Amino acid sequence: MSATTPITQEHIDFYRNNGFVKVDNMLTAEELELLREYLEEAMQTTSDRSVQTDKQGGLYYRVLNQKVNTWRDHAGMGKFSFHERFAQSALQLTGANQIRLFHDHGLWKMPNDSKPTPWHQDTPYWPINESNQGMLSIWIALDDVNEKNGCMAFIPKSHKLGKLKGIDFLDPQNIFDYVEGEQLDDRKPVVVPLKAGSCTFHNGLTFHYAHANETDRPRRALAIIYMPDDITFSGASHPITTGLNLEKGDVLKGPLFPVLAVRGAD
Ligand code: SIN
Ligand code: NI
Repeated sequence: MSATTPITQEHIDFYRNNGFVKVDNMLTAEELELLREYLEEAMQTTSDRSVQTDKQGGLYYRVLNQKVNTWRDHAGMGKFSFHERFAQSALQLTGANQIRLFHDHGLWKMPNDSKPTPWHQDTPYWPINESNQGMLSIWIALDDVNEKNGCMAFIPKSHKLGKLKGIDFLDPQNIFDYVEGEQLDDRKPVVVPLKAGSCTFHNGLTFHYAHANETDRPRRALAIIYMPDDITFSGASHPITTGLNLEKGDVLKGPLFPVLAVRGAD
C-alpha cells in the first residue's frame, strides 16, 4: 500500500514549523468532479450512521452545515475519506508510523446570515486523553475559496501553545485571551485562499478561523481528521464515539477507525 503524494520537504518543514500547510492540486479534476457529486448526495442523506450537527436554520448551522462520518452512509465518500494519497500525505507531514481515520465531515458554510467559524483549536472538542497527540485535519476545498466565501486562516506556530479551552462557536470567547505574555511572537493570521481541489492540513492544536460566507452559494469543503496510533478515549461525549461501548482509556482502533497509511509500506 503506497501512494504518490504531492508532499515535498518544503511542505513538511513548513507544516512542522507553523502547524499548517497549503497543498495545491491534491485532487485531479476527475476526482474533484466525483467528490462534489458524492458529497452533495451525502449531505442530503438522512440516517443515523452519519450525524448532522444542527438542523437547517439553527444557530450552529449558520456557522457550519456539518455532517460527520459521511463515509458510513455513502461508499463513494469512503473512496475519498479513506483516500491513500491524502492519508499518506498526513503520514509524511507528521512523521507518524501509522495514520488512522478519526472521522470525516462535510463542512459547508451556507449563504444567508452566515457566521464566521471563530478562532479555535480542534483538540479540545475531541474525546481523547492526549493533549499533544499529532492529530491533524485535511481540509479540501470543493469550491474556490477566498475571504468572500469563508476560506480558512491560521495563526503560525500556535500549535506549540498546547491544548487550551474549547471555544463556544455560538458565543465565542477570544482565544487570544488564553495566551499568556509573549508566547506568540507574531499573531498575524495567514489567510489561505484555495482553488477547488487544493487543500490545507492543520494540526489539531493550531488556531484557525474562517470568514462568514458573503456570497449566494454554499462554500463546500470536506475535512478528514487523522490520528496516529495509540490515541485513547477520554470518556467525553462525542458523536463519533457514542454507542461504541468504549471504556475510558480504551485505544481508538478497529474497523470504525481504520488504518489508512503505514510507514515503510512503500
Ligand atoms: C470551517 O470549515 O469553516 C472550519 C473548519 C475547521 O474548524 O476545521
Ligand atoms: Ni476546526
